[in-house]
Amino acid sequence: MTDPEKSRTSGTTPQDRVLIFDTTLRDGEQSPGATMTHAEKLEIANLLDEMGVDIIEAGFPIASEGDFAAVSEIARQTQNAVICGLARAQFGDIDRCWEAVKHAKQPRIHTFIGTSPLHRAIPNLTMDEMADRIHETVTHARNLCGNVQWSPMDATRTELDYLYRVVEIAIKAGATTINIPDTVGYTAPRESADLISKLIANVPGADEVVFATHCHNDLGMATANSLAAVEAGARQIECTINGLGERAGNTALEEVVMALKVRNDIMPYRTGIDSTKIMNISRRVAAVSGFAVQFNKAIVGKNAFAHESGIHQDGMLKNAETFEIMRPEDVGLTETNIVMGKHSGRAALRSKLEQLGFELGDNQLKDVFVRFKELADRKKEIYEDDLLALMRTSTDPEEDRIKLVTMHAVCGTEGPNQARMTLDIEGTQKKTEQTGDGPVDAAFNCVKALVPHEARLQLYQVHAVTEGTDAQATVSVRLEEAGRIVTGQSADTDTVVASVRAYIHALNRLLVRRAKGGTDRREVSYKDIA
Ligand code: KIV
Ligand code: ZN
Repeated sequence: MTDPEKSRTSGTTPQDRVLIFDTTLRDGEQSPGATMTHAEKLEIANLLDEMGVDIIEAGFPIASEGDFAAVSEIARQTQNAVICGLARAQFGDIDRCWEAVKHAKQPRIHTFIGTSPLHRAIPNLTMDEMADRIHETVTHARNLCGNVQWSPMDATRTELDYLYRVVEIAIKAGATTINIPDTVGYTAPRESADLISKLIANVPGADEVVFATHCHNDLGMATANSLAAVEAGARQIECTINGLGERAGNTALEEVVMALKVRNDIMPYRTGIDSTKIMNISRRVAAVSGFAVQFNKAIVGKNAFAHESGIHQDGMLKNAETFEIMRPEDVGLTETNIVMGKHSGRAALRSKLEQLGFELGDNQLKDVFVRFKELADRKKEIYEDDLLALMRTSTDPEEDRIKLVTMHAVCGTEGPNQARMTLDIEGTQKKTEQTGDGPVDAAFNCVKALVPHEARLQLYQVHAVTEGTDAQATVSVRLEEAGRIVTGQSADTDTVVASVRAYIHALNRLLVRRAKGGTDRREVSYKDIA
């Protein structure tokens, strides 16, 4: 181990350093409807690594072929972060997890079992039998990997004496991190702190491991509970981007990171996160998961740095600190001034895209410039968000077998609505005319008539990129067919056109996935405790 701060195991982390463990790709992605494609998972993992996340929980390898492939690939590609996979307290799960994470420069196995009375009842184990299972499985994981995390699921509803007992067993069996999950978001800040303090004070060997906190947000206290745990001695926070996760989600990464930064006077702890990367990854996670960020969400909501009332604006002009405790640029929010228009040239576009983090080759720039000009013809003012939406629209030649040629949809107060469409399907033009319940439905019926398929529409979501009636709409369409899940995206000033393009994008991706084989179907969930 060269850098003690990077060792991420017990004993060597400086006392003021809090490790950030991101589980967007595991706990976040497992929330119903938030499924990401393989390529999207790799992209998010890369962004997490670039922003300085210490540990990335990349997935649950036993759950499906897709999870296994994603964890393996993330393990291979990641440069800095520890790569962790989840495994239930079963040898088969742990072996599969190791197969996936072993390619990482720094692998970690995370194994867990539900220890509260309600959770013990599911596998029908006595307290002693469960204790034996914990000993065997943590020992097995440690024989495979030097970095093992163990979690007593539902720890905050587990009898305290039993929790002491099982945590001690896990430490003796070789766990290097002990994670204390508040699985159902039940605890409160003082109790969260108290539990960590008691564990550190009473469990033999506690000073040789890192204690982690993993909070769910059912009562809206996940961030407060995580910070309280840190004040009591936890040195790893488990969290997700945008607080993504089942039910009310997990602790939001951006909230704990910015709280520790802004209130370092009273919480003197450091993370390794480059906070200027927060906005970009927040937008990407929202786009690929299909879970939009609420406008007034702390740190990353659209209104988090907006000052609209007259009094606020006056104060802001005199001194930004009147109403701002952080600067927008601290989280990577650049001013949304009008950035470009019809007369902007290729060099200006390249430079603006570079500022937004996109390095384009000449051919890519040529393609984006054509689409930028088309947009500028329809929309006078092009904002940064418009450019980001443009960049999200796929230009992958592999995803180009079906193309929209023309479309006309009629809307109005009298239905049914009608749409006419011509598609280019692998070089042959085909036309149809269909009706539907609204112009989008009519247009989707045209696509279905021209490209017959059995895929099920899982998600259809529309967002306005900027303000104004000429704003672009970004549309996400998620389809599922035989266990394969794909998401298509597009943006256009015409919502119906954006919808059809997103649908066609998803179908193109489905064709690619069909050809490659494999499935995203999950055979097990982490709630299936055998
Ligand atoms: O919330 C929880 O208990 C979990 C465990 C699998 C760590 O996500
Ligand atoms: Zn969880």
